[in-house]
Amino acid sequence: MNRVDTAVHVEGLRKRYGDTIAVDGIGFDIDPGQVFCLLGPNGAGKTTTIECLEGYRRPDAGSIRVLGLDPLADHGELRRRIGVQLQEASLPARLKVWEILKLFSVLYEREKVPWSLLDHLGLEEKRDAYFDKLSGGQKQRLFVALALINEPEVVFLDEITTGLDPRARHAIWDLIRGIKEGGATVVLSTHFMEEAEALADRVAILRAGKIVANDTPEALMRSIQRDDEVRVHVEGSLDAAAIEAIEGVATASIDGDQLIARGVGRGWIARLVNGIEAQDASLLDLSTRRASLEDVYLALTGEDEYSPESPATEEAGT
Ligand SMILES: Nc1ncnc2c1ncn2[C@@H]1O[C@H](COP(=O)(O)OP(=O)(O)O)[C@@H](O)[C@H]1O
Ligand SMILES: [Mg+2]
Repeated sequence: MNRVDTAVHVEGLRKRYGDTIAVDGIGFDIDPGQVFCLLGPNGAGKTTTIECLEGYRRPDAGSIRVLGLDPLADHGELRRRIGVQLQEASLPARLKVWEILKLFSVLYEREKVPWSLLDHLGLEEKRDAYFDKLSGGQKQRLFVALALINEPEVVFLDEITTGLDPRARHAIWDLIRGIKEGGATVVLSTHFMEEAEALADRVAILRAGKIVANDTPEALMRSIQRDDEVRVHVEGSLDAAAIEAIEGVATASIDGDQLIARGVGRGWIARLVNGIEAQDASLLDLSTRRASLEDVYLALTGEDEYSPESPATEEAGT
């Protein structure tokens, strides 16, 4: 097995379908063992990119290396070393969970069926259930199990939590963290901000076939200039002008017993609290709002394209 410094290397990748430019010259590198997230709205080019990396689509231009291999020329070897998530339509409804696991073990030429995956993914009690009787979350967990059958070094998961309720989504998040702990590289696509924020070591924000940002979630959040906002409830009276005079406070407004202050830099919140106490008012509660990945995303992609918590019925793999 060849060791590589870069699990995935992409340069100048382009793909169009007729007049539609799906992927418009993108490049990125993924370090081994990282969770890398392609974040973007529907139609941004996530699935096309992932299919090119998996060797299931031929790019119009660009070069791709996965584990140092060419996804098209070295497809046979790569197929054994990567984990690919199936689409629902690719499984026969009238197969039982254990039969599916066995079938794929044979396809991947495993000597033993890795039954422990069922237990690990919380599917043990569904062992004898037909595929079409599984819930959405159980099907997705089975797809994760199938993607892991060959103990892959890189796992591709395309919108794996789309259409799941929050509970099932969190279960999948735990599985993804487990895959990373096992040492594999994970390439994940999502249009859920919280998912990228919760899981990714690096996030590439994709918009209309182009990468508009690629960094750690923390660095992305730092990259947008945005004041922190603090809301406090106080007992007693406050002088807004005196609050605004505090170093680091940009604006302060008082509405009844609530003070809303915005500020930048380090330490201003502590100085604000001291300033409030100095004014003979006592603080009842305090909440802060810091920049989130969502703010970065909106700043980079434009609000019009983002629909928060897209409908649960949306088709995966579009
Ligand atoms: N097989 C296809 N034929 C024609 N157009 C396609 C095909 N697959 C995707 N597209 C188009 O390419 C663009 C990118 O699609 P896709 O890669 O599926 O994005 P995403 O996964 O981010 O939703 C979209 O405009 C989509 O309509
Ligand atoms: Mg897609």
